[in-house]
Amino acid sequence: KPRVLTGITTTGTPHLGNFVGAIRPSIAASRDDSTESFFFLADLHALIKCQDPSLVRQSSKEIAATWLALGLDTERAVFYRQSDIPEITELTWVLCCNAAKGLMNRAHAYKAAVQVNEEAGEDPDYGITMGLFNYPILMAADILLFNAQRVPVGRDQIQHLEMARDIAQRFNHNFAELFTLPEAIVEEHVAVLQGLDGRKMSKSYSNTIPLFLPEKQLRKHINKIKTNLQEPGEPKDPADSTVFQIWAAFASAGETARMRREFEAGIAWGEAKRQLFELVNGELAAARERYQELMANPGHIEQVLQRGAERARSISAPLLRQVREAVGISPMS
Ligand code: TYM
Repeated sequence: KPRVLTGITTTGTPHLGNFVGAIRPSIAASRDDSTESFFFLADLHALIKCQDPSLVRQSSKEIAATWLALGLDTERAVFYRQSDIPEITELTWVLCCNAAKGLMNRAHAYKAAVQVNEEAGEDPDYGITMGLFNYPILMAADILLFNAQRVPVGRDQIQHLEMARDIAQRFNHNFAELFTLPEAIVEEHVAVLQGLDGRKMSKSYSNTIPLFLPEKQLRKHINKIKTNLQEPGEPKDPADSTVFQIWAAFASAGETARMRREFEAGIAWGEAKRQLFELVNGELAAARERYQELMANPGHIEQVLQRGAERARSISAPLLRQVREAVGISPMS
């Protein structure tokens, strides 16, 4: 069976972008009996961006509760915490010794950090850790260790998937054909969701709409979405509107067509936002209640994750043994 795998970094509270770009398509894919699913909390990746232990802990709990509240069936899908799988860190080292540094120099996240330094007139490496530099290798290990074929992600992660393929090919060529080449699965009709300020919705820009905000807060956030100054009655361009983009990510095709006509007919921003709130709130209300219950019961979440780690390791441990053998660090005979 083809394997589907994806992870979410445990920094911050899950937002509409994570839901639309990763969690929703992943849960849908996990209902397909012809595939096997692996979903995890990328808490080792979190350490790259966050040095506050209580935030990493809180975020892990929130992201785990989110998957469960949205209806992930953990009997079907293997659901685990990255740091519970020691084989991932071990494989990361082996891959580090094979991946080309030149390839890593091209990683977007690293290059962006260098550029910020250069623009500020700082040393290019100022504040950049080896964790950030090696980020794509850790991610390759996450994927390759489970021989995942399909990786549902948002567009921002495509480069990392290309790097994982490159790293896998190199290992397969140099040692043994152990790794499957993974493919990014990007929902065609879902763009990278924009945040309150119109830039990509991202924890690092503090422009997110958290998924399970209490109703009142959700309304407030939606009202804060930046719009242009067009008056009621003036036609509005759906293509450059965050309100419309989020609408399209939640509504049916028919409802999206209707909203497009309303935009062209000059719907007032206040009214468009009111309808958007009703739509998103309606989609999320039941899950929000389950989320609150789960957050009050971390013991249950922990139990689910432990069971998931056991199942995951029954796959990762044998593959890692083969990797060790292939590179020459296995027991003598
Ligand atoms: P992360 O935690 O930044 O994001 C998790 C997932 O959500 C998607 N996403 C979005 N999609 C649409 N619109 C947005 N505004 C938006 N913001 C985030 C991301 O594309 C991603 O799919 N490195 C990864 C986590 C990771 C991983 C992996 C993923 C670690 N190991 C192995 C797949 C396979 C990350 O930081 O995603």
